Amino acid sequence: MDICIIGSGYVGLVSGACFAEVGHNVVCVDNDPRKIEKLQRGEIPIYEPGLEDLVHRHVSANRLRFTGSIEDGVDHSEIVFIAVPTPPQADGSVDLSYIERVAREIAVVLKPGQYRVVVDKSTVPVKTGEKVDATIRRYNRNAEFDVVSNPEFLREGCAVPDLMNPDRIVIGSASQRATDLMKRVYEPFNAPILVTDVNSAELIKHAANSFLSLKISYINAVSAICEASGADVEKVADGIGMDKRIGRNFLNAGLGYGGSCFPKDVKAFIAIADELGVPFDLMKEVERINDSMLERFLKKMRDALWVLKDKRIAVWGLSFKPDTDDVRNSVAIELVRQLVEEGAIVTAYDPKGMEKAREFNLISDKVKLVSSPVDAVDGAEALVLATEWKEFARQDFAEVKRRMHTPLVFDGRNLFKTDTMREMGFVYCGVGRP
Ligand code: UGA
Repeated sequence: MDICIIGSGYVGLVSGACFAEVGHNVVCVDNDPRKIEKLQRGEIPIYEPGLEDLVHRHVSANRLRFTGSIEDGVDHSEIVFIAVPTPPQADGSVDLSYIERVAREIAVVLKPGQYRVVVDKSTVPVKTGEKVDATIRRYNRNAEFDVVSNPEFLREGCAVPDLMNPDRIVIGSASQRATDLMKRVYEPFNAPILVTDVNSAELIKHAANSFLSLKISYINAVSAICEASGADVEKVADGIGMDKRIGRNFLNAGLGYGGSCFPKDVKAFIAIADELGVPFDLMKEVERINDSMLERFLKKMRDALWVLKDKRIAVWGLSFKPDTDDVRNSVAIELVRQLVEEGAIVTAYDPKGMEKAREFNLISDKVKLVSSPVDAVDGAEALVLATEWKEFARQDFAEVKRRMHTPLVFDGRNLFKTDTMREMGFVYCGVGRP
């Protein structure tokens, strides 16, 4: 099928590459000419395992191309996906101006007799589809199209496998013609397809991300009870997670959730509910618990080190989670920021996130970035694990201990084994662990 994707960010680019992988012809559009030039030169603007190979293969096979022109994309494709950013506004509500602009731009390039399915893949508040539909009609009375909601559930760091093997495909549609075309788009993925009305599909996305955030805040709240009682949150999570109705995923206690999705989507869901006149206090508490995690962790550091000013602290991890170079809304970055603010001397290492942290000025010049985990701990009075990259667990800890001034470890993601660390002579402090 001929598919156009407007917006070549995380969701747009990975979706485009995966649609090409299953045999569709894809044109990715973006209004940033530098990004399009880069992509046309074969440079991938984000780090995502497997993506570069997919893009190169399908560009060579002429199944994937990049353009700055919406008209070009819409002209050549019966299915037009919208995958542009929906950033948060100061009050937590969603800024839909990019979606609105794309809807207008699609409207003006739609030609008479040219039926198109306009698919919203961006995370949007319920009822956005209705507004996209009305906008296109307002700017082109003769347009022949249907608006469909098709939320994306990929995770950064494993976006390609998530997209290739989805748990489910949600298609929110009021038109049989559009639904049939969407089913053809997704047929090669062999995944269960749930067809709903547009509003329900839109709500599924916010409800899913909010529920996962709730799971994380729940276990983080339980971790405080574990600390107060001497229980081990990892064992508690294993014990409740073995119940199939609960599941072990997203029950990892730590510094809390970050990234460009959960914090924004929880805020948005609260704002959406407020606007609809049905306040969602449960999610406000989820957010409050998450916001408290970093301070709880810093307090433990102050309890052990007394004052943080002038302390040499090594930080492992800057990205918001492992296997990504994404440092947006990363709790690790916020941790570094607060340590620096308190006067600590921070040396940090991250396998992929250092370049973007510097490029976007997210960490102070005072922070020294080094090229290996072991270099980071040289002379350190404490080591903080902020992001659970697997390579951190594989370090030579005898060497780490030798290099450190004091063998004090604060594990913000419960990556290390408590007993092993203590046997090796580290003073070890995790989250919710005795
Ligand atoms: C999340 C969802 O998992 C995806 O399904 C969704 O498509 C995506 O948002 C989106 O809306 O675009 P993502 O933000 O890439 O994906 O990352 P996650 O793996 O969900 O992690 C989010 C945050 O939660 C990270 O900061 C992670 O460290 C934290 N987390 C996750 C925990 O603190 N504990 C856990 O047990 C799991």
